[in-house]
Amino acid sequence: MPASRRGSGSVTLPTGQTLAFHTRSSDADDLPHATKKRMADHLRKYESLFTLTPQRMRMIVEAFKDSLETGLAKAGQVVPMIPTYVFGWPSGEETGNFLAVDLGGTNLRVCLVTLEGEGKFEITQSKYRLTEEQKQEEGQVLFDFCAECLKTFVDSQIESGVIRKDCLLPLGFTFSYPCLQDRIDHGELIRWTKGFGASNTEGHDVVAMFRKSLEKNKVPAEIVALTCDTTGTLIASHYVNPRTRIACIFGTGCNAAYMERAGDIPKISHLGIDGNAEMAINCEWGAFDSFEHENLPRTKYDQIIDETSNKPGEQAFEKLISGRYLGEILRLIICELIDEGVLFLGQNTYKLEIPYSFDTAFLSLMESDPTDELLMIIGIFTHFFAVETTLAERQFFRALAKLVGKRAARLSACGIAAIVSKMGYLDEGCAVGADGSLYNKYPGFAERIHEGLQDIFGEKGKNIVTYHAEDGSGIGAAIIAGSSQSTHLSCREVLSSPL
Ligand code: GLC
Repeated sequence: MPASRRGSGSVTLPTGQTLAFHTRSSDADDLPHATKKRMADHLRKYESLFTLTPQRMRMIVEAFKDSLETGLAKAGQVVPMIPTYVFGWPSGEETGNFLAVDLGGTNLRVCLVTLEGEGKFEITQSKYRLTEEQKQEEGQVLFDFCAECLKTFVDSQIESGVIRKDCLLPLGFTFSYPCLQDRIDHGELIRWTKGFGASNTEGHDVVAMFRKSLEKNKVPAEIVALTCDTTGTLIASHYVNPRTRIACIFGTGCNAAYMERAGDIPKISHLGIDGNAEMAINCEWGAFDSFEHENLPRTKYDQIIDETSNKPGEQAFEKLISGRYLGEILRLIICELIDEGVLFLGQNTYKLEIPYSFDTAFLSLMESDPTDELLMIIGIFTHFFAVETTLAERQFFRALAKLVGKRAARLSACGIAAIVSKMGYLDEGCAVGADGSLYNKYPGFAERIHEGLQDIFGEKGKNIVTYHAEDGSGIGAAIIAGSSQSTHLSCREVLSSPL
């Protein structure tokens, strides 16, 4: 045991877990630790690998813009630019009760949403954590699970008198994976993302699959709209803030949606839609630079993540940015330094060597640690990885976290800038509704995006402002379901009076 303990305690993490820590008073200890000089040398190396200059960012924006255009012009491109069949902005006057099911990268959420008009709403919901096994099982089994959870939720709402028995409820299904749509209540899964790999689902219509599970479980719900979290966020954010032009998700995955003139989507010109009609585009920008890897600054850690993922070559942009991967990037750097004999000599590091054991939430905590001793970082390393750290090592880890987090935010700025510049929003300015754990919880993520936008556009970058979006996967899905209901079934007739 180290001789010089000064104190100990515990903190409760946002995840509910308890993190224990103890402090040591000096860097000199009975374990061999990395020298400050050696860490400083390494930090310089990582700085040059992870820092994005404004010039490099502008180059990325140009290439990004080209990919967006190509995706609109032709089907089957790397960035698929998916027409969503969500036409125009909500009026804010949509009303009624809707179910929403949100199958996200981490959780399944089921909601009952009441739209009250004038941009107002109420929502009741239940959340279920998805296990890694569920993400890999047979697709129909996954949809059965969604239907079972929805059934439990609906039954509880019927029992408490909120929903009338024997009513068929209109349902907006938020399925946040790239799906080819040719109408609002249909979507063929192009590929799984965010580590999902459920079999017999890619290439299938996920609405038909979910419908089958709803019928099997006798859930009184009719899917009237399939949407993605970004499209939902775009619509929900505009419902409350009409200056919104773009929506982004920075969570387990990352993606954006915006409203496009139908006339500027050449690949659907054969449908004869009025050129001036507006349709939301789900960019699926996480796929930018996939396969060819020509534009993004990938380090060897990014390459390892890609090669060891269940989808090598795919989602190249997302793998540098989203919450699923940032912790793993830092873990790989630390493991390399362990292998080189720089860190944790004489300590058992097997816990750090487990892939994906370093949660991205740890990076947030490391960057936000307010104590001089960096007590939270002590806690992370002792409690979760059973290794001792010196203050200098903790400062080094914090600096590394900052490099990884900052690069993610600056790359996110490049994506936003590409849409802004393609759509000509810079002079007039616009609001960007953003959601997701990274955006909401990672300290300074939004500020770094704004800084990045100014590095790309200069002073005018200030015209583009991101803000915490409305709940797209719940409220947005309900609004979209509400807008499309007339073509499917008359929802209000089958629903009880508002909550
Ligand atoms: C992944 C999905 C995309 C989703 C994003 C954020 O990129 O492919 O559909 O919007 O994650 O959840």
